[in-house]
Amino acid sequence: MPAPGETVDPSRVHALDPDQLAAAVAAARESIRAAADLDALAAARTAHVQGAAAPLVLARRELGALPREERADAGRRHNAARAEAQAAYDTRLAELTAERDACVLVEERVDVTLPAARRRRGARHPLSSLSDRLVDVFVAMGYEVAEGPEVEHDWFNFEALNMAPDHPARSEHDTLYVEPTDSGRVLRTHTSPVQIRALLDRPLPVYVVCPGRTYRNDTIDATHSPVFGQLEGLAVDEGITMADLRGTLEVFAQELFGSGLSTRLRPSFFPFTEPSAELDVQCFACRGEAARQPRQPCRVCSDEGWIEIGGCGMVDPNVLRATGVDPARYSGFAFGMGLERAAMIRHDVREIRDFVDGDVRFGLPFGIEV
Ligand code: PHE
Repeated sequence: MPAPGETVDPSRVHALDPDQLAAAVAAARESIRAAADLDALAAARTAHVQGAAAPLVLARRELGALPREERADAGRRHNAARAEAQAAYDTRLAELTAERDACVLVEERVDVTLPAARRRRGARHPLSSLSDRLVDVFVAMGYEVAEGPEVEHDWFNFEALNMAPDHPARSEHDTLYVEPTDSGRVLRTHTSPVQIRALLDRPLPVYVVCPGRTYRNDTIDATHSPVFGQLEGLAVDEGITMADLRGTLEVFAQELFGSGLSTRLRPSFFPFTEPSAELDVQCFACRGEAARQPRQPCRVCSDEGWIEIGGCGMVDPNVLRATGVDPARYSGFAFGMGLERAAMIRHDVREIRDFVDGDVRFGLPFGIEV
């Protein structure tokens, strides 16, 4: 560009000559066409179309140096040249963008069918799920959940439950004692000591459900384990009768094994209830048919037609007295059942060890409840 005040010789302004412009456009086209990717294309545009040093940009600056009468023509020529270069750029830009997009689609494709490398989340143990379900049945009837220690004092585990130290029923419990042997402490052999704690701790009336782990010195086999779960229930109020026990357990049994099943109470003995009974529920598999028609054997109830699910009875007045409750005014019922046993019957589990082995394949069919 001429310096200010310099006289311009139009013949020196070559940049706007049709030939020069055509050459600049041709060079721009060439460079744009050769650009292999979007970065190269951007560089070609800077060098030939838009950048401060691009010949077409420099040429435009020369317009002012032309004699006035030539400027319009030169301006039109320059515009046309620039439009041509720009069009070449636009075309190549569209091509390269499409190519890039196609590449991205291929390279960044996500195969949603590939196995995911995600970590499995833990699942609830089938016994925990069952315990929660059963507890919920009682909570819905207005019961509170009560818990107690697994290392329990002899007084709570036996004595307050009407089992004095020389009571013969104690020997049936295969008790595990905590050292030293005169410590007076045992691993609780049932959840019934929680009844005692509830009666001592809570204002009357008491309606509690007590799930928990219990221990007995049993040799492990397919159906016995030294550690097992129980679910205990206790209701102490004015005017409680055996009919309340019966009705409550019927609701419970149907929730556990299915609606429409009958229950029955068979006379039994527990030191802490009087009268005492075993609770049977009609077999959910054969609905009692196997007992009526011996030709249709039932594996679930061994053709008994009934399944035993727990012990129960009216709270013995001695138990009420031991906890300071007046048996003349209050009465109550209690029941207790084994959780593993209920789960084994309900889900046809043959081996109690499956519950403690920790093999996730055992728990999976019960469903993942987190
Ligand atoms: N505690 C008894 C047992 O472990 C079960 C039971 C509880 C029976 C409450 C009657 C009432 O065998």
